[in-house]
Amino acid sequence: MKTIRDIDVKNKIVLVRTDYNVPVKEGKATSGLRIRASLPTINYLLEHGAKRIILISHLGRPEGKLTPETTLYPAVNVLKKLLPELTIGFYHLPQKGKQIPIPDNVKVAALENLRTDPGEEANDKNFIKNIIDAVNADIYVQDGFAVVHRAHASTDAVKNFLPIYAGLLIEKEVANLKKAIENPTKPLLFILGGAKVSDKQPLIDKFANSADNIFVGGKIAADGYKATSDNIYVAEDFDENAAGDKLDVGPLSTGKLAGLITDANTIIWNGLLGKAEDPAYATASTIAAELIGEKQGVTSIICGGDTAGFVENLIADHPNLSYSLISTGGGAALEFLLSKDLPGLSAIES
Ligand code: 3PG
Repeated sequence: MKTIRDIDVKNKIVLVRTDYNVPVKEGKATSGLRIRASLPTINYLLEHGAKRIILISHLGRPEGKLTPETTLYPAVNVLKKLLPELTIGFYHLPQKGKQIPIPDNVKVAALENLRTDPGEEANDKNFIKNIIDAVNADIYVQDGFAVVHRAHASTDAVKNFLPIYAGLLIEKEVANLKKAIENPTKPLLFILGGAKVSDKQPLIDKFANSADNIFVGGKIAADGYKATSDNIYVAEDFDENAAGDKLDVGPLSTGKLAGLITDANTIIWNGLLGKAEDPAYATASTIAAELIGEKQGVTSIICGGDTAGFVENLIADHPNLSYSLISTGGGAALEFLLSKDLPGLSAIES
């Protein structure tokens, strides 16, 4: 896979597809993970003399309509705060055949939510060509790891017009996930939680052979999931509420998990172990996150939107915790782990 390290970006106008699909509440982005994760690519391009960077992203599923709820502005606002020394422009998507009038002093600009035009999800060649022409882009960089499982205009159709290079976020995500799948330092521990067995069963099936241990917690375990091989440990005791609902993995099983984490050299964690949005039922997830984040010299991958968000919040209070990768990709990371074909990655130059 070719990355921005393989090309000369000096004096070039670089169109960068990011994934700024962040949760928004009352006009404000409530997570900065995906926006912070785009900074290495932006900084690299600036340091290597790019003339201008134009950022494009979707936010939510606005079904082709721009409204106060579907604008990308809340995400751009976070970017402005992260890069206070730069003037960051924010522009409407271009009208057909029209240039976007970006002043010379604007080195970094963002365009409005791609999905406010139906052309993005329709994988419409004309839609992305119009954007390329409107900003005079010389180079296209794919850095929206979280959206590479979608065949949309900015992930797929764009390959008809410009060679695509991976940004540093995609480089990091792919390198870590690939190593964990293809060449993990053993023992490999897979921790699975969350609510839906149907989402997780393919992962259990895929990793039942390659993982040394799989620990199953979350609602799946509480609902009585049955292990299908000896290396799968399903949580057996739970913290319950007054009504008897099993809302967190209990102390005995958490102790078992702690031992597995201590022994592991590669850990992949997807899915919270309890109803962790309620602090009363976040104990098992907190213990797992702390034990993993304190481990030195191991590969640790956190994936899935809820799990990544939980760990991000924990780090805010415990900056000593560190992980090889807190994946920005929910669905994309899972599809990568399942070795599915991801159109946005296939479109990148090789
Ligand atoms: C995500 O959050 O998983 C990505 O941004 C993709 O969004 P989508 O599921 O709406 O395509």
